[in-house]
Amino acid sequence: MLPMVPEADLARLVAAARDARLHAHAPYSHFAVGAALLDEHGRVHVGCNVENAAFPQGLCAEAVALGALVTAGGRRVVAAVVVGDTSHAITPCGGCRQKLREFADDDTPVWSADAQGWRARHTLGELLPASFGPSHLPAR
Ligand code: THU
Repeated sequence: MLPMVPEADLARLVAAARDARLHAHAPYSHFAVGAALLDEHGRVHVGCNVENAAFPQGLCAEAVALGALVTAGGRRVVAAVVVGDTSHAITPCGGCRQKLREFADDDTPVWSADAQGWRARHTLGELLPASFGPSHLPAR
């Protein structure tokens, strides 16, 4: 059972991620992705993938959205939506799962959506089990 995120918030996140996806810079993969994150203040932060001619320097949509959330003063990811245009729903890549982990919990919902609406839902703990996080580091 996933923690509840109000349906209005989910609709808002899906719409925001879809809009963000339209701005993707993906001339190499031609695979546009949009992401939207709900923070602890009820605000939505978005990102799209930003590729680079030096391929490894490209940024995933989730990483860009996370940067926007932190820059705006957010510190928690309450829910995440990632939107791609594929026949099967996309989930965040491994690196982005770890990035989200810094600001989210095992039970944080991560929805996958396409042009029609949400297609799959996981918790971050399902996507990144037995993960390493801030509490593993000694207190300073
Ligand atoms: N990509 C994302 O932005 N998020 C994901 O969750 C999966 C992959 C991007 C990276 C790259 O620009 C393109 O999709 C193809 O891998």
